[in-house]
Amino acid sequence: MSSAPTLDLAADFLRARLGEFHPKVAVVLGSGLGRLADSVSGGTRIPYSEIPGFPSSTVVGHSGELVTGVVEEVPVVLQSGRFHLYEGHDGETVALPVRVFAELGVEYLIVTNAAGCLRPAMQPPTLMLIADHINMMGGRGSPLTGPVVDGEPRFPDLHDLYDADLRSATRKVALELGIRLEEGVYLSLLGPCYETPAEVRMLQKFGADAVGMSTVPEVLVARARGLKVLGISSITNMGAGLFQGVLNHEEVLEAGKELAVDLERLVRGVLPKLGEGRK
Ligand code: HPA
Repeated sequence: MSSAPTLDLAADFLRARLGEFHPKVAVVLGSGLGRLADSVSGGTRIPYSEIPGFPSSTVVGHSGELVTGVVEEVPVVLQSGRFHLYEGHDGETVALPVRVFAELGVEYLIVTNAAGCLRPAMQPPTLMLIADHINMMGGRGSPLTGPVVDGEPRFPDLHDLYDADLRSATRKVALELGIRLEEGVYLSLLGPCYETPAEVRMLQKFGADAVGMSTVPEVLVARARGLKVLGISSITNMGAGLFQGVLNHEEVLEAGKELAVDLERLVRGVLPKLGEGRK
């Protein structure tokens, strides 16, 4: 068993910093999806540079801070800016914030990301509830390899990883708010290149509906720690070869910003429902 000294340092720092504030829900905000963090009033902002063991986020569109506060009467911690394997971080670093959230007593993880569309009938831009995932990040994508970390099983079960009750509650909120919400399988690659058209055809055959470069490492740790997970992708573009043109990060960010309005409404609508059981 290992107790990961970096984790202890980061958790101790945040416990001291947050005092009597105990977040129940953590939200990981993907590229261009920082709106929710900007809208938390009176929250505490903690730049990654102050947190022991947290590297600074290097990707455009990721600001690199934790924001804590009360949203829709729920105590939350927002991770504005995530770490990616393609930046050269290992899985342990990518998933460090989630391990820290678990140490702080967080019970629910809401993960968001930007993703490309593999299902022609699901025209972007749209939000997509993640029903399940396919991990194609290779060995580096799992923060669970190596010595078992205290409190985590060696062989976590991944059945119902994206919690069925949370998905059902989210579908209901989307319907009530008039937000278009697709549902499908998210497939993660290491990146940082976008896919080739041949890869897109292959991934379609694998049964994936969306492709991205994040999320899976964090979600695996959330499961190992017993957090309930809700995943929402902002489907920003058609996959390579499924449209005329080229992909670039600026356009992905732009489309993500458009979707961020509905994403924020959806997350705000779901927050009070967490813990209410089957809807
Ligand atoms: N591929 C991989 N990751 C992405 C994409 C894509 O098309 N769009 C946004 N993130």
